Amino acid sequence: HSKKKLLNKKVLVTAGPTYEKIDPVRFIGNYSSGKMGFALAEELAKEGAEVTLVTGPVHLKTTHPNIHRVDVESAMEMHNACLEHFPATDAAIMCAAVADYRPKEQADRKIKRKAGEMNIELQATEDIAAALGQLKTPSQRLVGFALETNDEKQNALAKMQKKNLDFIVLNSLQDNGAGFGVDTNKITILSKDNNAQEFELKQKTEVAVDIVKKLIGELTND
Ligand code: C5P
Repeated sequence: HSKKKLLNKKVLVTAGPTYEKIDPVRFIGNYSSGKMGFALAEELAKEGAEVTLVTGPVHLKTTHPNIHRVDVESAMEMHNACLEHFPATDAAIMCAAVADYRPKEQADRKIKRKAGEMNIELQATEDIAAALGQLKTPSQRLVGFALETNDEKQNALAKMQKKNLDFIVLNSLQDNGAGFGVDTNKITILSKDNNAQEFELKQKTEVAVDIVKKLIGELTND
């Protein structure tokens, strides 16, 4: 980092899972550790960017002074925080594993055990990346992730278009050592021009370097 390439740039990063409350003691969540998003925030800050890191519940610490951390719990809280911060940024990287559904109602008391079946009605949460894609100005860049199990590239390209992303980082669950919880990841970066850049399995801190390099290229060619 002899010559910092993101000085005077502001970048928003989302990380971690979201928790959607069922009652005061229960929630719907997922196994996202937040490691990839936190590694991205650190790498962006090392390149001189001012980073706003909006994170769901994780057990990670931020170290760099240029990372402003906003802790949220639910998809709705993450959505609100992102809408607040996005307009002032040059780019956003959507790395959070946002819950797709929340319980339609939140019980204000602990739900009692009963014999037999029990149903919880769900409703779709906000698609935060898509919301930012709508707000995006010509000088802003928006990056998403896609975790796919089948028809990976096709699904990822469709997501990139639907959410108005500039590029998308594909994780395949078919690759060992990639995805949730682990320290390593194996990615493919898909660009709007249909170009696919495949990377080796590496530490998430190194994967972050590759993604930030790609973002730097996108930001300096507007
Ligand atoms: O549609 P899908 O969830 O697979 O898209 C993944 C991408 O969209 C990721 O970048 C993720 O952070 C983002 N996303 C979001 N809000 C949601 C769902 C996904 O920002 N509610």
